Amino acid sequence: MHWTPAEPAPDPALTRAFADCLPGDRLAGPLRGYRSLESTQIAARAWAVHGAPEGAVVLADYQTAGRGQHGRSWTAPPGTALLFSVVLRPPLPVARWPEIPLATGCAVAESVETAGPVSARLKWPNDVVVDGRKVAGVLAEGVAGELPLVVLGIGVNVSQRETDWPSHLAGGARSLAALGAPVSREMLLRAILARLSAWYGVLVHDGFEPLRAAWRRRALLGTRVPLPDGEGTSIDLGPRGELVVRRDNGDLTFLVTPPGAMPEPAGAEAR
Ligand code: BTN
Repeated sequence: MHWTPAEPAPDPALTRAFADCLPGDRLAGPLRGYRSLESTQIAARAWAVHGAPEGAVVLADYQTAGRGQHGRSWTAPPGTALLFSVVLRPPLPVARWPEIPLATGCAVAESVETAGPVSARLKWPNDVVVDGRKVAGVLAEGVAGELPLVVLGIGVNVSQRETDWPSHLAGGARSLAALGAPVSREMLLRAILARLSAWYGVLVHDGFEPLRAAWRRRALLGTRVPLPDGEGTSIDLGPRGELVVRRDNGDLTFLVTPPGAMPEPAGAEAR
């Protein structure tokens, strides 16, 4: 295992426990596991710009500065959430990269359902929701350069107790264990990487339409959506992954999928 001296060293036992569970698919490691990191996104990005191959995974038991969408933070008590980032080097035009987080949402929703009798829905662009509560989130960050890449971060609430949630999340988030779907983080990682490999292959070989169909079957639509100049109601997922929103005056407007998935110059480390 090689890492640059400036980075913290992976934890051998944690690395072994999760690496043993990787599926033998397109996204199959190598994996580095850490007891604590600032963010798996930062460590995976650093590894990627030093040559980590597609499928490389950085996983942490705990993050001191976990990142969510829209500059929000993502927190979980140690060992209670599946927190990891995967390096992708997509053989797709950059304009199609926003499809990747949508595929990830589908892969996570399918994997969550293998854990127990739960029905997972998708809230655009890629929140995974069970019984109206968020169980997982996805953050895709593109990195430009000679070899552009995506660092795909996934956080799944696995075993938090109801009392673990900070007040601003209580009522909005829930763990799989609390929903009656207990699962080991190792098995969940394996399922997600296997489903993500499958959807990634579909995007590359068959295009976006099969994924769009799968996403729409799980879509949470009819929700109120803030717009730059008002509000509207979500009504569909468009043919390029955009959210179709009906304004209150009846006009349609389209929200494009998450800008973060598009490449930013390497070194432009958002903190
Ligand atoms: C969201 O806001 O819904 C996206 C949350 C993504 C969280 C995951 S946890 C693993 C990876 N590392 C991070 O810092 N964020 C992502």
